[in-house]
Amino acid sequence: MSLIIKRGDVPKTPHTEFYGRKFFLSLEEIHGTYGFSGAFSRKMHLRRYPTVQMEMPKLLSLSLTSPILQKAPLSPYHILTGKIPYQGTIERSRHCLLKGPSAAISVSKPDRTTGENEFFRNAEMHECLFVQEGNGVLASEYGDIEFKEKQYLVIPKGTTYQFRLSKRRAFFLIIESLYPIRFAPHYLNGEGQATLMSPVIETEIGMPVFKEPRDISGKFNILSKHNGGRVTKIVLGHHPFDLVGWEGALYPFSFDSSDHHSIAREIHTAPPVRQTFQAGNAPHSGFSICTFRAQVEGWNIKDVPAPYAHYNVDSDEMMFFSNTTYGARKGIVEPGSITFHPAGLPHSPHGDAAKESFKSRGKLSDYLAVMLDTFFESLLPTEKAQKFCDPRYPLSWAKAELGVVKE
Ligand SMILES: [Fe+2]
Repeated sequence: MSLIIKRGDVPKTPHTEFYGRKFFLSLEEIHGTYGFSGAFSRKMHLRRYPTVQMEMPKLLSLSLTSPILQKAPLSPYHILTGKIPYQGTIERSRHCLLKGPSAAISVSKPDRTTGENEFFRNAEMHECLFVQEGNGVLASEYGDIEFKEKQYLVIPKGTTYQFRLSKRRAFFLIIESLYPIRFAPHYLNGEGQATLMSPVIETEIGMPVFKEPRDISGKFNILSKHNGGRVTKIVLGHHPFDLVGWEGALYPFSFDSSDHHSIAREIHTAPPVRQTFQAGNAPHSGFSICTFRAQVEGWNIKDVPAPYAHYNVDSDEMMFFSNTTYGARKGIVEPGSITFHPAGLPHSPHGDAAKESFKSRGKLSDYLAVMLDTFFESLLPTEKAQKFCDPRYPLSWAKAELGVVKE
């Protein structure tokens, strides 16, 4: 994140004597990436270090991952996340569906809000959530972010947070990344500003609204995810949201998918114009996240708005369908469907999507989907994913050719 912001009270000069509140020497913490060299924030705690544990750390039996599906053939997959039941809290009910060396894709469908004294911290991965359903507040030591459907929430690794749902039910797509998730640098100028032709504009992000520090003693449980999905319960002796202020470039933020400003051209546009975020050293490692949202389809009198078959040998592709109006998969996907097309296979629209798409030449589309393309990294479906897979998907192109879309 290129915007450096300041909230609350911090000393002008780092690591100098500072009293955020009368009589209390504020205690500094650096929350940083890439060792001491990447984006960071300087957090000023009211009067206690964030290290005051009251009980021995306890490894929970809860696991937030799922074993990789052994002996999985090279195949396209269709995961029907609509069939995953609503259950538990967002933190405890994650279903890991796809994973690779630096990325993991999960779904969480909570049916209750998190307890007042329970917090979560992903200590091993950065996170980007897409809110398919539900609204509420993402509270963290940085402040509160109100969220609603169709928004992204980007949460840096190590942030301590809590989801407070306004409705009982919610549905999140959760993308985890070993590397920080940021706007694509090719949309930023040398000063770190979004360029004038960028589809994303940094001032449209939703910033945390700073809250007064909570100077409360007690027992506060932090569920820390680490080492490949293990969860350890850390019991802090004071409320974790105890900052008098912070400043820096590392903090959670929201971004509305409708604020991805589509770029159209006379003929069909390839996915890179839809890129919203990326992670790692793309396109050499890591992944990109693209937002397929409303845009004017190509207006060339002979344009084929449906995509071409593509065989991207360096990218595994995950597509999450927020709605079902994407013509290339019409009649196949359901709301919340995930399709997974690994690099080793070409994939294409179904049936007569190419001919059907002529009708949409020059018209505004209304689809909404989130795509993740890895770079030089394979993802594999998990055992959990297999439970919700559509077993007929690999043969669905043949069926569609015969005019059978869904049986
Ligand atoms: Fe594709």
